Amino acid sequence: MAKVLCVLYDDPVGGYPPVYARDSVPAIGGYHDGQTTPSPEQIDFTPGELLGSVSGELGLRGFLEERGHRLLVTSDKEGLDSEFERELPDADVVISQPFWPAYLTAERIAKAPRLKLAVTAGIGSDHVDLDAAIAHGMTVAEVTYSNSISVSEHVVMMILALVRNYIPSHQWVLDGGWNIADCVARSYDLEGMQVGTVAAGRIGSAVLRRLKAFDVGLHYTDRHRLTEEVEQELGLTYHATTEELVRVCDVVTINAPLHPETEHLFDDELIAKMKRGAYLVNTARGKICDRDAIVRALETGQLAGYAGDVWFPQPAPPDHPWRTMPHHGMTPHVSGSSLSAQARYAAGTREILECWFAERPIREEYLIVAGGGLAGAGAHSYSARETSRNADEGDQAEPG
Ligand code: NAI
Repeated sequence: MAKVLCVLYDDPVGGYPPVYARDSVPAIGGYHDGQTTPSPEQIDFTPGELLGSVSGELGLRGFLEERGHRLLVTSDKEGLDSEFERELPDADVVISQPFWPAYLTAERIAKAPRLKLAVTAGIGSDHVDLDAAIAHGMTVAEVTYSNSISVSEHVVMMILALVRNYIPSHQWVLDGGWNIADCVARSYDLEGMQVGTVAAGRIGSAVLRRLKAFDVGLHYTDRHRLTEEVEQELGLTYHATTEELVRVCDVVTINAPLHPETEHLFDDELIAKMKRGAYLVNTARGKICDRDAIVRALETGQLAGYAGDVWFPQPAPPDHPWRTMPHHGMTPHVSGSSLSAQARYAAGTREILECWFAERPIREEYLIVAGGGLAGAGAHSYSARETSRNADEGDQAEPG
């Protein structure tokens, strides 16, 4: 019998289940690169239901309890008195979502001798100390691709919202005004602008594909260069470094994982190299940007706008300066947790657990850490401080 500790975000303030706006979500069978969507033996939920909050339980309770396992679900995750901290010492499996991350620090991992599996219901396992997980002999897995398209749609939405000045214009409507000049004084067309992505993995590439129709110049940097065929198909300009990319772009979108190479990448120095009045959209991880440097750049006008849904820490405290800085289009961390995405990552979490308990291999593309090092998607996209030797050739990162 295993104890499965699952940390999810709170139910809606209006209660659970909510009144749904639609009756169904489209069934998606596969992704752009041919990978199939999650395929567990069974699911015990209806796609389109709210699964990511505490009462939704990712649809896992029946499956786990029928097999004699114990499922504990909580949103209480911060501090020594939290339910998460109290229940962790004898947990075998921890499941958490990046939207409401259960930070699995080295200290917490050390307190959990039985912990062998951490599952990210979604994408992005930076809330787990990967070096500590490797040292502890753990497997870390996530549901690769499950919400990549969801995020790419959000990125396109945020780019358009900033460039066209949508949010302040909407506010004039709510306030009863008709202040056209105030709305348009910061409103531009995206057409003709240069748009670049830092990382062209699943999300970054999907953003580029979606933006192609807007008649913009498309740029990217990534430690893995795309094929010539894809570069030609999308008309991409490749840049060897982020610095080179930001110098020429009007809009920059960040789609890299948070790891030692990317932490605080967008600091005062890099932002100063951007075009004055550039827009920055970050749906990757809050810590890729220096919090106060972003505020300064918006206040001076070096950045014309900043949007995203990722913060540090999460949930963001009420006095987080990104709530009140000028010209921002922030949301809570929601882009990868649409009801459509939840159906996929809940099914993917179940698929991972089915494999784990049946001692079958987990899909390679779902692995971040396994067998004592970075593995699968983790070896491709991450660097751990001590573990670059485990990564693909070309992935060598500077330690620290
Ligand atoms: P992916 O693994 O397909 O792509 C990541 C890409 O980043 C890879 O191509 C890798 O080579 C590149 N990369 C890594 N380090 C880099 C560096 N220093 N400079 C340039 N490129 C670098 O992952 P995917 O699905 O595209 O997701 C990317 C990230 O987006 C996740 O790690 C996660 O942090 C974030 N995310 C956010 C979500 C949200 O709800 N806001 C949901 C899903 C993911």
